[in-house]
Amino acid sequence: MCGIIGYSGGKQAAPILLKGLERLEYRGYDSSGIAVTDGGAISVVKAVGKIKALDEKTNGGKTPHGTVGIGHTRWATHGVPSDVNSHPHVSQNGMFAVVHNGIIENFAELKAELIAQGVKFASDTDSEVIAQLLQYYYEGDELDAILTVMRRISGSYAVGILCADYPDVIYAIRKDNPLVVGLGANENFIASDFAAALEHTHDFVQLGDGEIAKLTAHAVTFYDGDGKPLKKTPYRVDWDISQAEKGGYPHFMLKEIYEQPRAITATVRPRVKGNQIVLDKIAFDAKNVNRIEKIDIVGCGSAYHAGIVGKAFIEKYCRIRVNCELASEYVYSDPITDNRTLTVIISQSGETADTLAALRLAKKRGSHTIAIVNVVESAIAREADDVLYTYAGPEIAVATTKGYTTQVAALYLVGLKIAKIKHTVSDARYSEMLKELTELPDKITRALADIEQIKNYADEYAAHKCVFFIGRGTDYAASLEGALKLKEISYIHAEAYAAGELKHGTISLIENGTITLALVTQSALYSKMLSNIKAVQSRGGTVLSVASPKNEQIRENSDGLLLIPDCDDDLTPILTAVVLQVFAYYVAAARGCDIDKPRNLAKSVTVE
Ligand code: G6P
Repeated sequence: MCGIIGYSGGKQAAPILLKGLERLEYRGYDSSGIAVTDGGAISVVKAVGKIKALDEKTNGGKTPHGTVGIGHTRWATHGVPSDVNSHPHVSQNGMFAVVHNGIIENFAELKAELIAQGVKFASDTDSEVIAQLLQYYYEGDELDAILTVMRRISGSYAVGILCADYPDVIYAIRKDNPLVVGLGANENFIASDFAAALEHTHDFVQLGDGEIAKLTAHAVTFYDGDGKPLKKTPYRVDWDISQAEKGGYPHFMLKEIYEQPRAITATVRPRVKGNQIVLDKIAFDAKNVNRIEKIDIVGCGSAYHAGIVGKAFIEKYCRIRVNCELASEYVYSDPITDNRTLTVIISQSGETADTLAALRLAKKRGSHTIAIVNVVESAIAREADDVLYTYAGPEIAVATTKGYTTQVAALYLVGLKIAKIKHTVSDARYSEMLKELTELPDKITRALADIEQIKNYADEYAAHKCVFFIGRGTDYAASLEGALKLKEISYIHAEAYAAGELKHGTISLIENGTITLALVTQSALYSKMLSNIKAVQSRGGTVLSVASPKNEQIRENSDGLLLIPDCDDDLTPILTAVVLQVFAYYVAAARGCDIDKPRNLAKSVTVE
């Protein structure tokens, strides 16, 4: 979704805002803008398109002059992408400028009310109503006006505010939308995501729902919804800014693919202590575990796909029924859940609105919630009963790679931990799986050593319009993510199908040359997959198999073969995911797509 950055300090604000916006561009990017105060007047510059366009309009940040400002990248929800609909929005008399993420649900009524009072609106957005309301209620005390506006607006928001009467100050407010305050030396920041301010500071404060932050270069003050000062405790983010840069790779996605051995190591190793799995502060003991009758795993997009892989694994090892649910469906499905259900909430960003709503509902119904989250101190991490961080580091490419595989690894840890407590896994098998898990990073490195071979197939198939991914069991779960990756970044229609289901309809779409990627890593299902592959080929389809060495003989019945390193059948989804990520990456590269920022997609979707 949209991104917000704000700066109050002693330096020229515009270049700092531009750089911050570049780092936030992955959140949404059809237009952008900045507002800067310079001794009383607010100057605004906006541009449709990439940050580059804004950079050109501001001479690389040389203009407008001023050391205090706010900036925004927009992903249109209300009103088409245009200069006038881009943020910042300025009130009619120029007193207030605001940048807003989220949706003001009652904007139409508020707008009608203000228009009836003679206020003239410039844009079609819901966000402008905030600026106009601030002007309407302002009588010289800006905090009073902000508190009144917060009482009038409903919906979700993170807002940065400038007031021309107070040129050294930025205000920030939030509800159900991410916003952090960065604490620097003689300079302070607001940002949707700490990556935007990480080159300036590692100390942050999360603004809570209904709270207000007032920033100058030298001080930050927090207030609650009644305007009473609040004491907030900062936290430190250890991420290195170089992790949020491309580091010589042509795209963030490729860099993040290569970071997976390190990310899986960071997620798994510290939690495997000898023959024990220690899941941070999560209190898994016999009493808690034996009460679990059912596990619900909830997420969106790739996080949901990680959940499907986790479901197969947990059911197999723990003998507990697992439902994997799309968060947007779960919330409106009147879910059957109570204190005998464990709910595992998965989210890389920790801010996805649908997933957050699901977490809140599960908690309300008495379920114990564990969040598997990458971004520290994000909303989902803070609100869940327990959190298990994936240590993937910052993920910038919109299409997740290391975010997804670390989620799968975290689910393996949860599954094995529960299985051990329930005695549903033998000691020998448990130890074997722990060993296999810790060997995964090396195997990913080996899988990436064959990158040229994957690229060759990608180049060969890049012109196709439709690709199928088939597999059985865990391979089917893995194909869902493979197909999503290809769709997201190459815009080729891809469909994942349970291989045995193909004959029940979809096989009618197979014709001469149709490409099918067949995942063949489940030895017990080999002969079944072989029949499915033959059925595709006998209709003229071309089959590229992605197989484990144990199933290498599939080569004889495939038009192409990619081998993953040898690995336990239950852990292959992480390795096949890496191969399919690379495949999608090179198909998209061959088609000239904007790989890190695919059209219409946003990395962090903070509206329902
Ligand atoms: C967006 C992204 C997907 C991602 C999903 C869930 O739709 O484009 O790549 O999987 O959100 O994101 P989360 O941060 O909750 O894992």
